[in-house]
Amino acid sequence: MRELKTFYVRTYGCQMNELDSEIMIGQLENRGLVRCNDEWSADLLLFNTCSIRDLAERKAMGKLGLLGRTRQNHALIGVTGCMANAKKESLFQKLPHIDFVLGTNNIHELNHVLDEVLATGKQTIRTNDHFVHELDYLSAKREDKVKAYVSIIRGCDKFCTYCVVPYTRGPEVSRPPASILEECRHLVEQGYKEITLLGQNVNSYGKDQPAWNVLFHDLLYQIDQISGLERVRFMTSHPVDITRELMEAVRDLPSLCEFVHFPLQAGSNRILRKMHRIYTVEQYLEKVRLLREIVLSNKKWIDIGTDIIVGYPTETEEEFQETFRLLQELEYSVAFLFSYSPRKGTPAMRWRDDVPEEVKQDRLQRLLKLQEGIYIKQRQAFLGRTVEVLVEKRNVKDNQFLKGKTRCWKNVLFPGGDELIGTLQQVHVHSYSHQTLLGNLLPLSVQSA
Ligand code: SAH
Ligand code: SF4
Ligand code: F3S
Repeated sequence: MRELKTFYVRTYGCQMNELDSEIMIGQLENRGLVRCNDEWSADLLLFNTCSIRDLAERKAMGKLGLLGRTRQNHALIGVTGCMANAKKESLFQKLPHIDFVLGTNNIHELNHVLDEVLATGKQTIRTNDHFVHELDYLSAKREDKVKAYVSIIRGCDKFCTYCVVPYTRGPEVSRPPASILEECRHLVEQGYKEITLLGQNVNSYGKDQPAWNVLFHDLLYQIDQISGLERVRFMTSHPVDITRELMEAVRDLPSLCEFVHFPLQAGSNRILRKMHRIYTVEQYLEKVRLLREIVLSNKKWIDIGTDIIVGYPTETEEEFQETFRLLQELEYSVAFLFSYSPRKGTPAMRWRDDVPEEVKQDRLQRLLKLQEGIYIKQRQAFLGRTVEVLVEKRNVKDNQFLKGKTRCWKNVLFPGGDELIGTLQQVHVHSYSHQTLLGNLLPLSVQSA
C-alpha cells in the first residue's frame, strides 16, 4: 500500500468550511501526516469547496481541472465541502483524476476513506444528507492562537429560495451544550481569548432538541461564565430568530461583543416573500430598533452587519431602490453585497433569471459605492478615539505592526512587540488605510487614569 507522508489543504467559502478544514487537518496529523504549503510536493491534496455562488464553484473547478492537466501522478486528490454534496458522483465525470469525494456530513470518515482509496485504488464517495456523528473538535488544528471557531449547530432548515446550503449541509443539528462548553474551556486553557460560535443560523440552537432546554441565549450565558474568555462572537443569525432574550444577552454579558450580523437580503417586501425570508421590512426594522434600544441601555455601542442580494428574479428598479434606501438608512458597519447567482436544486433556479447581468452588476456597483461612502464616514468618526483591541498577531504585510480587532469587528494596526499578542490593549486611532484603523498604544499612565 502507498504511504502518505504530507498533505496540502486549500479552503474555499465560509467560516464553517475553515473550521471543517481545521478538523480534517487535526485528523490527518493524528494519522502522522505532515501539512505542507507546497501543493506540488504533497502526497495528498484536499480541496474543501464552496457552492454558494457560481463564482465560488468555478474557482474550485478551475483549480481542480488544471490539476488534472498538470498533476504529478503520485498525489491523491480529495474534494470535500459543499460542492461535494452539491455535485456528488458527477464530480468523477467532470474530474476523472480525483480520488475521493467527502461531503460536509462525512468529515469524521476522512481517514477511513483514505484507507479505502489506498487499499482498493478505486474512486470513493461519501455524501450523507444528514449530520449525525459528533466530530473530534478537540483535535482540530488551529493556526490562530488567540481566536477560535466553535461549531454549535450544523445545517439549515430555513430554505431561502436562492440558497444551496440546506441541500449541501442538511437539516439543523445542534451540538450538545456539554460538548460545546468542554471545547470552550479547553480553548481558554490553551490561551485562546476569543471564541466565535458558528452555525448557519446560530439562533436556532437547541430548537431541534427541546429536551435539552437550552436555547441560544441560554448557551451564551453559560459560556460567559468561563473565566479568562474575553470575547464571544457568533455567526450568522437569521433576523426571524433574533429574539429579545438574545438582545438582552448582548446587553448584559461582558464577554459578548456588540456586533450582530443581521442579514436583510432585500429591501422590498415582495422580493423578501419570494426569497422566503419570512419577515417583512417593517418587522426587520422594528427588530433593529429594539436591538439598538436594548443594548444601548447598558453598553455604549452596537453595530450591525448585513448580507444583500441584488438582481433577484423579477426585481424591478423601484424594488432595488428600496434596498438602496435601507442600506443608506441603516448604516451597517459590515455589508456583504452580492448579485444573484442561480443555484442548482433551489426553488429560484426554476424561475427565469430575468434581470440581465449588466443590470445586476450596475445595481451591485451602486450599492458598493454607497456602502464605501458609509464606511469612510464611520472610519472618520474613529479618528482621535481610543479603542480596545484584542491583539491577534503580527501583520503579514508590514512586520512592524501588530494586528487586532475592536469588539465591533474593526481591524486595527499599531506598532508594538510580540509580547502583546493575546492581550487587550487600548489603542488611540490616528488615521486609517482602506478598511483598517491605524493607531498607537496608549501609554500605561494614560490607560490607568
Ligand atoms: N446562513 C447565512 C448565510 C450563508 S450564505 C445567513 O442566512 O445569513 C451567505 C450569504 O450569501 C447569504 O446571506 C446571501 O446573501 C448570499 N447568497 C446565498 N445564496 C446566494 C445566491 N444564490 N446568489 C447570491 N448570493 C447568495
Ligand atoms: Fe441559506 Fe437562508 Fe439558511 Fe442562510 S438562512 S443558510 S441564506 S437557507
Ligand atoms: Fe459555501 Fe458551504 Fe459555507 S456553500 S458559504 S462553504 S456553508
